[in-house]
Amino acid sequence: MGIPQLTAEKYNKILADYEKKTPKSKKLYKEANRYISPSGAPAYMIWHRPYPFFVKKAEGSRVFDVDDNEYVDLFMDQGISIIGHNPPRVRESIARTMDKYGVHLELCEELATEWAKKVNKHFPSCKRIKIVNSGNEATALAVQIARAYTGRDKVIKFQGHHHGWNAVLSYDGLVAGSGTLFTKGIPENHWENLIALPINDVDKLKGAIKENKDEIAAVIMEPMGATTGGPPFQEGFQKEVRELTEENDILLIFDEVVTAFRVALGGAQEVLGITPDITVFGKAVGGGIPIGAVGGSEDIMGVLCVLDSKADCFGLDRIFPMGSFCAQPLAMAAGIATIEELEQGDYIRNSILRAEELTEGINEVAKALKADFSAYNIYSIVHFGLAEKIKSDLSNALDWLEFNQMVRLILLLNDPGVVTLPGHVYMSGVHTKEDIDTAILAFENCLKVYKE
Ligand SMILES: Cc1ncc(COP(=O)(O)O)c(C=O)c1O
Repeated sequence: MGIPQLTAEKYNKILADYEKKTPKSKKLYKEANRYISPSGAPAYMIWHRPYPFFVKKAEGSRVFDVDDNEYVDLFMDQGISIIGHNPPRVRESIARTMDKYGVHLELCEELATEWAKKVNKHFPSCKRIKIVNSGNEATALAVQIARAYTGRDKVIKFQGHHHGWNAVLSYDGLVAGSGTLFTKGIPENHWENLIALPINDVDKLKGAIKENKDEIAAVIMEPMGATTGGPPFQEGFQKEVRELTEENDILLIFDEVVTAFRVALGGAQEVLGITPDITVFGKAVGGGIPIGAVGGSEDIMGVLCVLDSKADCFGLDRIFPMGSFCAQPLAMAAGIATIEELEQGDYIRNSILRAEELTEGINEVAKALKADFSAYNIYSIVHFGLAEKIKSDLSNALDWLEFNQMVRLILLLNDPGVVTLPGHVYMSGVHTKEDIDTAILAFENCLKVYKE
């Protein structure tokens, strides 16, 4: 079965219905486009066709647009807002911090230590942590640390795994097999030291390690599979990667930007029982304020400028990642409040439960309608639209993306609408059973549009 298509007539009606529902957003988008670069300000702007709706209020699991439409938000700021929009504890923590230090302070205060202690408590593999401002920065830094520590240049990544847009790793991200697509402006030879391999192929991994003996610094992976979409790992693959990297003195980097404090307090490494050498953090650990971080053993993290005043802090043999906003107090305060809320509440369990309900609901509806559509969840991340074909035939990946874009638009047309990403969503701990029932109904309506 091929990728579902819409007739031009249906396609145009969907666009017209969306425009009818969102006239003020359309106007705001036109204005934004006059001043903001075409790829837009928030990522949502890039992904949304014909234009994104503009939000006037966000609370819990719901958002409201400027045209007074209500939506169940399954986008949740790309997974950042795991305890919902506008959580009181985080707001209070930010307000208290602002009372003390103002909006920003690039001097020392205690919050960063408190934040790092909390992260270390749940991620014992991270004895030392470097705090930066985005996952994108942190993955690039993790690779630099691995290269500096091992004295080797080559890095293995997996096709379709997304590690931000940085020039170091953006090759073959988002859509598996896409190569340099989406990444213009970087010389081809920049990736000479990057090897992108298919997932679940242990022989290819072994082959690449053998072929590049003593040249590979690290293997980087999203430890629960490509959270931005794509097929899941076969059971045991991550363990094989750990064993192979250990045997060959290659560092293993877990990009836990999405999975840390989401799949479990201790992230993917806790649920898999696998200890990576380096962990990358982002998203939820900043409680909604920009953040990224890299953690590892004292030894590995020792290649960074160290805290010991006797050490040669500025020596040429160290990495010195300065940043005007590193460990900004508001991110630390929001991050601490979020972690505390996650420690004390039932958010993680609830988000996983809701993901299971959504997955089951989508699959039931697809089955009843005999639609070539399915869903699967990895803890609280739900992937949908992935029929068998995309797993084997990656040449269709962009068509699937197009199909998923249309699905998103149709989901918005419901009342209340449902906000998703193309092909995947992140459940939060505040989504209710009612939210899920609403979402399942929206998926049913969407699949009917294709079937009828
Ligand atoms: C797994 C993963 N790593 C890294 C990043 C980049 O993080 P940021 O958006 O904070 O730059 C993302 C962003 O979606 C991600 O999903």
